Amino acid sequence: MRLIAGNWKMNGLRTEGLALARAIADAFRAAPPPGTEVLICPPATLLAPVGAAIEGTGLVLGGQDCSQEAKGAFTGDVSAAMLADLGCHYAIVGHSERRQFRGETDATVARKMAAAQAVGLSAIVCVGESAAERAQGMTATVVLAQLKESVAAGCDPARLVVAYEPVWAIGSGRTPTQPDIADVHRALRGGLTQRFGSAGPGIRLLYGGSVTAANAAAILAVPAVDGALVGGASLKASDFIGIIRAAA
Ligand code: PGA
Repeated sequence: MRLIAGNWKMNGLRTEGLALARAIADAFRAAPPPGTEVLICPPATLLAPVGAAIEGTGLVLGGQDCSQEAKGAFTGDVSAAMLADLGCHYAIVGHSERRQFRGETDATVARKMAAAQAVGLSAIVCVGESAAERAQGMTATVVLAQLKESVAAGCDPARLVVAYEPVWAIGSGRTPTQPDIADVHRALRGGLTQRFGSAGPGIRLLYGGSVTAANAAAILAVPAVDGALVGGASLKASDFIGIIRAAA
């Protein structure tokens, strides 16, 4: 099952967020795209209303992050159990914006991944190289190291998704070439198979970074790309619907 995930990031007040969720739900209410799972990750403030708006449709709900702690005195944090309680099935962890702007390390990401799985969520673990790392030919080394350290011991491969998101491609309008994406996904698949054996090939590998309705079909045609993590283009219903249609 392919996965197309929309990460709204810190965008959307109630009115526009609900309108966006409803437009996506309406487009697929009659016939959810076969073989494609569609995930919406709104900001935490909109999880409840968006969850209600997409209830009974084929769309699923996810959080953009979760705390590494189960509960307690962590002001402002949202736990994985709170996400599950609102009907989430997924949590994104280790997005590069959290690594860059919130100082999250691989060790933090691994704890978040474990916290998500502990309450039954699937964790979407993000990895990706910077422009400088790519220029130095370090891409495979960097993403494999992130994969190794960000996926916690005891990880359930059935509830793991990995998103390859080159930092330089996020929000930039630039994407790697198809062969470059294929190379990284092959390396990640190798790492997953080494770690999880026969469960490795079944772990979905997403590409993220400047995916649009115009380039989605080409990116999704790359071998070992099992879906997309979409930021900017998930904020406009027609663009996101176009990406979902490209996947189907
Ligand atoms: P973008 O973001 O599609 O706006 O490049 C992708 C992401 O950060 O997940």
